[in-house]
Amino acid sequence: MKNIVILISGRGSNMQAIVEAGIPGARVAAVIANRPDAAGLAWAAERGIATAALDHKAYASREAFDAALAAAIDAHQPDLVVLAGFMRILTEGFTRRYEGRMMNIHPSLLPAFPGLHTHERALEMGCKLAGCTVHFVTAELDHGPIVAQGAVNVLDGDTPDSLAARVLKLEHQLYPEAVRRFVAGEIAVVDGKVAAGPGAAASLLSPLPSSKA
Ligand code: GRF
Repeated sequence: MKNIVILISGRGSNMQAIVEAGIPGARVAAVIANRPDAAGLAWAAERGIATAALDHKAYASREAFDAALAAAIDAHQPDLVVLAGFMRILTEGFTRRYEGRMMNIHPSLLPAFPGLHTHERALEMGCKLAGCTVHFVTAELDHGPIVAQGAVNVLDGDTPDSLAARVLKLEHQLYPEAVRRFVAGEIAVVDGKVAAGPGAAASLLSPLPSSKA
């Protein structure tokens, strides 16, 4: 049985999607947040999952916080660390410690729009597709070998909120599937890229909206 540790900062809907999907051969060993008020912590605790909150504001430096976070994670002997809406910039040492076994989900089609306000920026640029990306975490923010991507059409009249809501639905399908593939050993990083196994599509396109919609 492989151990997954999930890091959150807020509501944790991606964490919930992974827990509810159930990953064959793995269990969510712990959910850890950098904000004690992260709503997802209570949800996980109600389901008997170990939880911890490490308030980053209580640490003197990024290094000190990351060291404490690593200790909390390692107590659960993780095979995979999953960042699910974890809103902290991580130190290089931390990212190196979990290299090849730490994933993130980002609400854009990377390498477009790393950082914040992705949906707003996609709309400003007149993008016709928007989406989400699961990638292995490297020291560079929202960078690293791409595991899977999902795309939605940008619709007339979309607002950052309406687009975010459609992308989030796709995130909830994409992330559990990416985690499943990792746990099943279907993913290999070759020359800095994730090689897709035979027949394993690593992208999702939400259905085209009907012209009458
Ligand atoms: C998601 O859109 C995720 O892609 C981004 O932050 C949001 C977190 O949502 N990194 P949740 O906490 O998983 O509900």
